[in-house]
Amino acid sequence: MYLKRLLMLNGPNLNLLGKRENEVYGEFTLQDIENEITKLVEDYGYRLDSKQSNHEGELVDILQAADGEYDGVIFNPAAYTHTSVALHDVIKAISLPVIEVHISNIHSREEFRHKSLLASVCYGQIIGFGKQGYRLAALALLPEQK
Ligand code: DQA
Repeated sequence: MYLKRLLMLNGPNLNLLGKRENEVYGEFTLQDIENEITKLVEDYGYRLDSKQSNHEGELVDILQAADGEYDGVIFNPAAYTHTSVALHDVIKAISLPVIEVHISNIHSREEFRHKSLLASVCYGQIIGFGKQGYRLAALALLPEQK
């Protein structure tokens, strides 16, 4: 079955983009990112569904339900990147390519952000390119030709 659907999933506090630590995360909102990535994937004939949750278990539920429904996931797990064995396990359990995205360069920040519990089970990781990271992740999941 050819689905042509991508899921963009954002974790805790990313609903606050635009009014949260602008010097780290920029001025743009989550809605701005959603609009931009929706347009990009639609140019390829794909559909984007976008979800955000502040709750670890809900992110697990969304990823479980996504299996078989999407071609790939653009995922910014936010703070759960550094703590969540449950997200590690669900990404390992499903057969979808999941790309881990971080707006900021987590390696140039506090030491507790340097470790990702998810990177080893993700298809790839894109870090430190601001909102451009979501675009790069989408391009990695889309076909080479439009
Ligand atoms: C983040 C980096 C995380 O360390 C942090 O907890 C976030 C956002 C990023 O996109 O740069 O909430 O994932």
